[in-house]
Amino acid sequence: MTKQRVGVLVSGRGSNLQALMDAQGPFCPFEIAVVIANLPDAGGLQIARDAGVEAIAIDHRPFGKDRSAFEREIDAALRARSIDLVALAGFMRVLSAFFVTAWAQRLVNIHPSLLPAFPGLDTHARALAAGAKLHGCSVHWVTEGVDTGPIIGQAAVPVLPDDTPESLAGRVLQAEHLLYPACLALVCGGEGAAGAAARDTALFMNAWAP
Ligand code: GRF
Repeated sequence: MTKQRVGVLVSGRGSNLQALMDAQGPFCPFEIAVVIANLPDAGGLQIARDAGVEAIAIDHRPFGKDRSAFEREIDAALRARSIDLVALAGFMRVLSAFFVTAWAQRLVNIHPSLLPAFPGLDTHARALAAGAKLHGCSVHWVTEGVDTGPIIGQAAVPVLPDDTPESLAGRVLQAEHLLYPACLALVCGGEGAAGAAARDTALFMNAWAP
């Protein structure tokens, strides 16, 4: 099996990166080939190093407002390592048209809500304020709009009566850790017609077993 070489972009603790790492094995159709962070102290970099995966910090701050110069550096690092697919895992920079076009149909993201509900930030507090009874997470292709690309998969969890944004976030995060590896395997796996059919089918999970 030819494994797809995945580059993961992170900004923070990297628990989704860890879940993707843990999913790797002989029958997994992807391998994490490089991890890139825009903050040198991102926890995800240490997770990569501990697993023997190349970890690179490309600090966005010296680039100031020149977003595309920052993104060209990331793009060059990915291309130099023959990356097939880029997975955003808590990467907190909005990507410009340059990067999104350069990696069109090879760029995925995980977002902590059942899109199209609650794009953007503070999804858990907003779900509670809206009185949502069902919440969850989505893995989607990245297009130019924020959190609007085609959905690859979603996992649902209930909102419980005593939930706080923190308790709800914890439940959703557990679902993220199940959903992201499954979706990445879906888009990386299978050659020919069977693979194409799988990639055209969105994955929906009930990620809650009380
Ligand atoms: C996750 O909730 C993810 O959905 C969002 O940012 C968070 C990253 O968490 N995009 P982690 O760094 O993977 O632990």
